[in-house]
Amino acid sequence: MTESRCTTVTGTLVLAVFTAVLSSFQFGYDIGVINAPQQVIITHYRHVLGVSLDDGIAINNYALNSTEELPTSPGDPTPVSWAEEEAMTSASLITMFWSLSVSSFAVGGMIASFFGGLLGDKLGRIKALLVANILSLVGALLMGFSKLGPSHILIISGRGISGLYCGLISGLVPMYIGEIAPTTLRGAIGALHQLAVVTGILISQIVGLDFILGNHELWHILLGLSAVPAILQCLLLFFCPESPRYLYIKLDEEAKAKKSLKRLRGSDDVTKDITEMRKEREEASNEKKVSIIQLFTNASYRQPILVALMLHAAQQFSGINGIFYYSTSIFQTAGISQPVYATIGVGAVNTVFTAVSVFLVEKAGRRSLFLIGMSGMFVCAIFMSVGLVLLNKLPWMSYVSMTSIFLFVCFFEIGPGPIPWFMVAEFFSQGPRPAALAIAAFSNWTGNFIIALCFQTSADLMCFSFLLVWSWPLLYSHFLKFQKPKENPLRKLQQSSERRGVQLKRPKLL
Ligand code: GLC
Repeated sequence: MTESRCTTVTGTLVLAVFTAVLSSFQFGYDIGVINAPQQVIITHYRHVLGVSLDDGIAINNYALNSTEELPTSPGDPTPVSWAEEEAMTSASLITMFWSLSVSSFAVGGMIASFFGGLLGDKLGRIKALLVANILSLVGALLMGFSKLGPSHILIISGRGISGLYCGLISGLVPMYIGEIAPTTLRGAIGALHQLAVVTGILISQIVGLDFILGNHELWHILLGLSAVPAILQCLLLFFCPESPRYLYIKLDEEAKAKKSLKRLRGSDDVTKDITEMRKEREEASNEKKVSIIQLFTNASYRQPILVALMLHAAQQFSGINGIFYYSTSIFQTAGISQPVYATIGVGAVNTVFTAVSVFLVEKAGRRSLFLIGMSGMFVCAIFMSVGLVLLNKLPWMSYVSMTSIFLFVCFFEIGPGPIPWFMVAEFFSQGPRPAALAIAAFSNWTGNFIIALCFQTSADLMCFSFLLVWSWPLLYSHFLKFQKPKENPLRKLQQSSERRGVQLKRPKLL
């Protein structure tokens, strides 16, 4: 057995990684949970707001059949147009509340994404995860009890608070698992974050089936269920070791760092890790902290930060979350008779391809996988849109749309899904890394928010608009031509920086 093998996968390491990615699981659950019960919750909103579908139909029928005159509003010449207008106003009100229910999650994420690293540095990784869980529990409670009050308000605010939680952990989790992983397993362990996200999406789709929780009686439990992994995580966190890198590099607590390392590695000899961390601490002490503004004004950081921003913007504007938030209604539009099962199929394919990408990413290279993924998504988007447009004339087009959606997701997970999350950390060394991660995560969540808010309306208006959304990041990532030499994604960036007399050190983490 090699040395790395016997020092690596200990029970404590498994426990710590499992506990941390329970947050990623919640992130995925919150993304996917809103998808399947859309119609059930919308029906409830209509009920709460007193604008049920039946009312709309009744207004129209009354207007068409009654001999009595309906009151008309000023400027409305006929009772029919008044009734129609009323029904349309109600419909757009419901669409607005629904879009807000979906997108408030991303608003929360956007705001909190700036503070994940900061909180982790202030409290330590374990305490930061514990504190963040307060947000998760509050969000879950608001949604879980949303039937008892004004549901639309409770759901919008509950999802906003859950979004705050997810924004925090999208910085904290990759940081913690990257820091406790042995060097040889850093890539694989880092990828478990995305794997847990997609597993969360899949589970939310399964429990969202109407005969499980996605029905008129139990949908609120479905929304509140993210409290379960939150509680489990809170309990398990007490048994997890603090990050030795945080203890040693940030707090200068060598004895505590050694203790934590001994637990994680299952060995009393942790000299190798300590030597590595000592080197990193020396590098860190030579490096100044870099502010967000300096990332854009300093020539040596400008290109990498623009590429980082584009990677995250492209990931989100690829429209992937349009699928995860709305696939059930997209499949319905595409004429699929069991849309919820098709959604679960998407979740399963998504999970399988994420696992595949863990192996592919080291072999094929980040840049090519990202561009192959984006190009594949672009072609799928064309087929998807053509399929939806021609559906009325050619019923078999529903299969074209469905297949395109499945392939769209496969291409996403091959590259554009996992790559941006770990590549930004790779681009930067200790000094600029926290600022770069904050701005990259913010760009990701902003894109997530815009798609969540606009997708339904743009889909209602014109399905070809999907194409516009899905094509521009592809072009943009070509324009920027982020440079990746054959083996090492950083080499060229580093070389060009070094030519200009600025040294970007090879980062140690992730
Ligand atoms: C990535 C994206 C996230 C998306 C998920 C889907 O993690 O950042 O927004 O929902 O992939 O697999």
